[in-house]
Amino acid sequence: MGFLNDIEPLKQTALTELKAAPDLAALEQTKGAWIGPNGKFTALIKQLGTLSKEEKPAAGKLINAAKVELEAALASRREELEMKAALPKEPTDFTLPGRRRALGKLHPLTLVTDDIVRAFRKIGFAVADGPEIEDEYHCFDALNTPADHPARDSQDTFYLNTTDKRLLRTHTSSVQIRVMEKQAPPVRIIVPGRVYRRDNADATHNPTFHQIEGLYVDKNVTVGDLKGTVEFVFRELMGSDVKIRFRPHYFSYTEPSYEIDFTNALVKKMGKDWLEIAGCGMVHPQVFETVGYDPEVWTGWAFGFGIERIAMLRYGINDIRLFYENDVRFLKQF
Ligand code: DAH
Repeated sequence: MGFLNDIEPLKQTALTELKAAPDLAALEQTKGAWIGPNGKFTALIKQLGTLSKEEKPAAGKLINAAKVELEAALASRREELEMKAALPKEPTDFTLPGRRRALGKLHPLTLVTDDIVRAFRKIGFAVADGPEIEDEYHCFDALNTPADHPARDSQDTFYLNTTDKRLLRTHTSSVQIRVMEKQAPPVRIIVPGRVYRRDNADATHNPTFHQIEGLYVDKNVTVGDLKGTVEFVFRELMGSDVKIRFRPHYFSYTEPSYEIDFTNALVKKMGKDWLEIAGCGMVHPQVFETVGYDPEVWTGWAFGFGIERIAMLRYGINDIRLFYENDVRFLKQF
């Protein structure tokens, strides 16, 4: 009987068309053309009524099975196309900032770093960056620190197991050199970053910690500029009762060099008069020579201080290791 023989090829064509529908609108059209009220397959079902009593059961079964198959194909193609429609049309740029605020909170070291950066931005400093894996040249030689200087001792420095003697930078001062190598004066930068030293961890030391380096190069720069800048930033950071004191010191890359002491109500509360907070000085002419700046024309100052130190003071934290343990009970408090 012709009728029964029609079912299988019609079903096959319908299946092929459903599976090939390029989008949801096309799929709905294909569905209408086959199993909608005026569809070709629906027409077959309608013809069932014209069959004899003997023919009906077998034909009915066949048609029902085919219809189930078509509906399953329709549903699965619909799901596929819906998924495709939900995908972005353009390739996703994962570097774009998210629209929602990140969950959680900023780490206390991030909060303090952001505040320091904000204070320096107000007076025209830009943020610079450099590698944590350094070479001896940028970390020491170019900073006028000769090979026999104690700072280069393997007791203090983590050396990598490479033939070119690479190391983990012991201070952010290396970035001063990298910036001056690339850029002509004037320079006005700060460099927040991670540094490494072979210290055993105790309440005030950790093998890795953070520093902020500052470098200002221009004509006629003086120690007065340096002191005024440091004072401004610390008052922004710790309140207007801050006092600053410079003590003579030695660093190979500055001359003269100073250590900066700091005091305010918090320091007094700790039972101390002054707290040593940073190293600084006027950039050594030899450093300028090394990077190709004319020391007869250009003058400058530099400083470096530890971020942990400031955060501990600010928040009354007495153990540096708390910063790195990622204990939520600690982190939740900021
Ligand atoms: N690099 C020094 C340290 O890690 C800090 C420092 C001292 C940085 C004097 C400077 C500077 O730029 O001029 O202890």
